[in-house]
Amino acid sequence: MAKEGFNSKAGAIAAAAGSAVGLGNIWRFPYVLGQNGGAAFLLIYIFFMLLIALPVLISEFAIGRKAGLPVMAAFQKLAPGKKWYLIGFSGVFCAFFISSFYNVVSGWTLYYTYISATGQLTTLSESGIEAMFTQTASDPVVCMLWMFVMLGITGFVVSRGVEKGIEQYSKILMPILLILIVIVCIRAVTLPNAADGISFLLKPDFSKITPKALFEALGQSFFSLSVGMGTMTTYGSYISKKQNLSQSAVSVAMIDFFIAFLAGLMIFPCAFAFGINPGQGAGLVFVTLPNIFNQMSMGQVISVLFFFLLVVAALTSSISLLEVVVTYLKTQFNIKRKYATLIAVTCIALLGIGCSFSTTLFNFFDNISANVMLPLGAFFIILFVPHVLGRDAIKAELEAHGGKFKLFNLYFFLTKYVVPIAILLIFINNILSWMGINTFDK
Ligand code: TRP
Repeated sequence: MAKEGFNSKAGAIAAAAGSAVGLGNIWRFPYVLGQNGGAAFLLIYIFFMLLIALPVLISEFAIGRKAGLPVMAAFQKLAPGKKWYLIGFSGVFCAFFISSFYNVVSGWTLYYTYISATGQLTTLSESGIEAMFTQTASDPVVCMLWMFVMLGITGFVVSRGVEKGIEQYSKILMPILLILIVIVCIRAVTLPNAADGISFLLKPDFSKITPKALFEALGQSFFSLSVGMGTMTTYGSYISKKQNLSQSAVSVAMIDFFIAFLAGLMIFPCAFAFGINPGQGAGLVFVTLPNIFNQMSMGQVISVLFFFLLVVAALTSSISLLEVVVTYLKTQFNIKRKYATLIAVTCIALLGIGCSFSTTLFNFFDNISANVMLPLGAFFIILFVPHVLGRDAIKAELEAHGGKFKLFNLYFFLTKYVVPIAILLIFINNILSWMGINTFDK
């Protein structure tokens, strides 16, 4: 549907960046980093991003563009009669799982936009800000209502097929979000005790590298780049043959990393300045940022604008998730886009209601999708490249724009050996540590 519009322009790459940049960067990255001890996690994350998630992104783009079809059909076309299309099938489940908690967090963000606008947030004390989040997250009615609104907007966009319109707006709005983040960063690093927060983010304590930290850094690198379930394969099919795929993937990864890093630079100085536990979990962004806004002139305006722009960032990501499910239902059951969206949104809403009532369920979906489903999906996607497509075919696709991919040998080596082996080792290591066998102390 959106295909025609993307073909000639760089629009598909902007859409891929829109999918990548979202709550994963500003909400999830800081909270997971905070729970895993800070700078050491950042370092591992950078390694995984470059050596694992980026090759997966390049591969997804290439597979999608080569086939010229969305994920399931792409694998069916490139490996007819084989079971590889199941990657797309499991991606649909993964999209359901991620959407279920993602829309709850988008809902919180929209709610925070609203309470900033009405002045309820700006007048709160430090402890009031903390209480506000606890109250929000533990009130299923508030969670559900705002989640429904976000899911409704996402569904509306997807059912009308007006993603391109949203992308147009987000191309203007996302740079504004970036500027705002930089401004907030500057305020954050000039807060009293900010130095403690900066060294938490930048001074690695290597004893914090645990099997769990490796496991969660891997999951976060996939989650943040939207890889491991075929979303980027589908976007790849929209990218024109004239585009340099590897370079586009590098740009998307750089933008994505940069925004996550700045989010850390904004949040940790603030956490240390206000005595907030950086490892407290999913509420971290919501209990830190309002404190900085209160310390800024025009704080209320900044607060409203910031949360609003974060809603837009979340929307472009949740659209890409819903799109996966809708495309599947539409083609599989041969139903209209409108009905496919209605069915998908209803199912996600049901799961979302579960997440609104139960933190355990929320955390379960969050963990299982990012840390288990995406790495497993990525594992099979990456096996597909050397073992089914083969070296020549993937090289030809990556150089189809007429240029040379200088680092092709490195890319192919990572894809064939490093990525699958690393994913397996990190998994095994984490399972052993769950079973109480510590592989690190010996
Ligand atoms: N990457 C998005 C974020 O950081 C979330 C997301 C959108 C996603 N689509 C995805 C994650 C597909 C994994 C797979 O907010």
